[in-house]
Amino acid sequence: MQFFETDFIKYRNDELYIEDVPLKQLTEQHGTPFYVYSKNHFIKQYRDFENAFKGTKHKIFYAMKANFNLSVVDTFVKLGSGVDVNSEGELFRALKTNVHPHSIILTGVGKTKDEIRLGIEKDLLLIKAESIEEVELINKIAGEINKIARVAIRVNPDVDPKTHPYISTGLANSKFGVDTRTALSLYSRRNEFKNIQFTGLDMHIGSQITSLDPFIEAVKKLCEMYCQLKKDGLKLDHFDVGGGIGVKYRNETPFNIEEYAEKLIPCFTKIDCEIIFEPGRYLTANGGILVTEVIYNMSNGDKRFIIVDSAMNDLLRPTIYHAYHHIQPVKRISSRNKIIADVVGPICETGDYFAKDREIFETKTGELLAVMSSGAYGMVMSSNYNARRRAPEIMVNGDKVSVARTRETFEHMLWDEQI
Ligand SMILES: Cc1ncc(COP(=O)(O)O)c(C=O)c1O
Repeated sequence: MQFFETDFIKYRNDELYIEDVPLKQLTEQHGTPFYVYSKNHFIKQYRDFENAFKGTKHKIFYAMKANFNLSVVDTFVKLGSGVDVNSEGELFRALKTNVHPHSIILTGVGKTKDEIRLGIEKDLLLIKAESIEEVELINKIAGEINKIARVAIRVNPDVDPKTHPYISTGLANSKFGVDTRTALSLYSRRNEFKNIQFTGLDMHIGSQITSLDPFIEAVKKLCEMYCQLKKDGLKLDHFDVGGGIGVKYRNETPFNIEEYAEKLIPCFTKIDCEIIFEPGRYLTANGGILVTEVIYNMSNGDKRFIIVDSAMNDLLRPTIYHAYHHIQPVKRISSRNKIIADVVGPICETGDYFAKDREIFETKTGELLAVMSSGAYGMVMSSNYNARRRAPEIMVNGDKVSVARTRETFEHMLWDEQI
């Protein structure tokens, strides 16, 4: 059985550390379950991305849907990142970090009138439009408040990203974006939309994509569109390729960021505007761990279960995508036997699990397990199911520990309810 380690998450004398802090120490201070993040992992991922595209006019907009904790978003903003927001709530959070509105772009297949109005009022860099009706609505709302909205049309390039169907977004049968013909027709009607300035072209074909081919195919399609629009007299300021870069959860062999840049940069030769990237998972996934304590070990016949104090309400990815997260002991004990077991939570659902039929070292009650690669689409999808409190989020920077979010209290959960 392999142990999952990164530059910033490693065993030292068989104790799992995040940067210079043992997870055991964090458990003593904060209890379990909790999320913990490596700040330097986030910084390294961001800088690697930046370096890979040095020399290309570009800007990263961190897709905060991956992890919207204020400290996490603020980390990227301080490095110079913009923010891609997907709702009014994310916009509200992003603005708390003091990111400039011109460094925010508003995404979303079902933006409400209020969200669109807010985006225009705040003068965001770009609002993406994903349908004809949405373009018309943006134009109407901008007219009502006497503003010009900067808009990018999200194009669905009909490319198979070969990832989980729930996170494939660039196929013709998905709800996201308009086909190329509709997009070209909308751009050509630009004089009809008096309160819109079309300044961008956008795509996002899916998430956890581990092959470069779908990106290249989609980017090439959009490049053709960009050139066509330019020929028709529309000069755009932004060419947005979205996010979607895959990371290692198990034994995937995703391309590295240098290969991504090496393959994409030649596609951009005819693109004389800023290239926008919206990475989420790439920046945060492998910088996070969910730490949980073993409550019981039990068997049903031959089947073994490790019941832990964290659950699907904390980390939903295994339940909804059958996603693999590596699970390893916080303290390695070499004499332990390997067993096959399900690692499950206390919630009253059979779907409440982190691993099924997993080869894992035997555990004892009270021991700690680390659910790895939990820095993206982890805490952001958490809920209060079974009236469970949401876990705290801890940020580690070297040997410094800060609480990025405290454990929810039962009073927190009741503040807006009454009998
Ligand atoms: C429009 C858009 N941009 C960016 C992202 C971030 O994707 P990822 O976390 O795979 O980089 C998403 C995620 O679903 C998205 O919908």
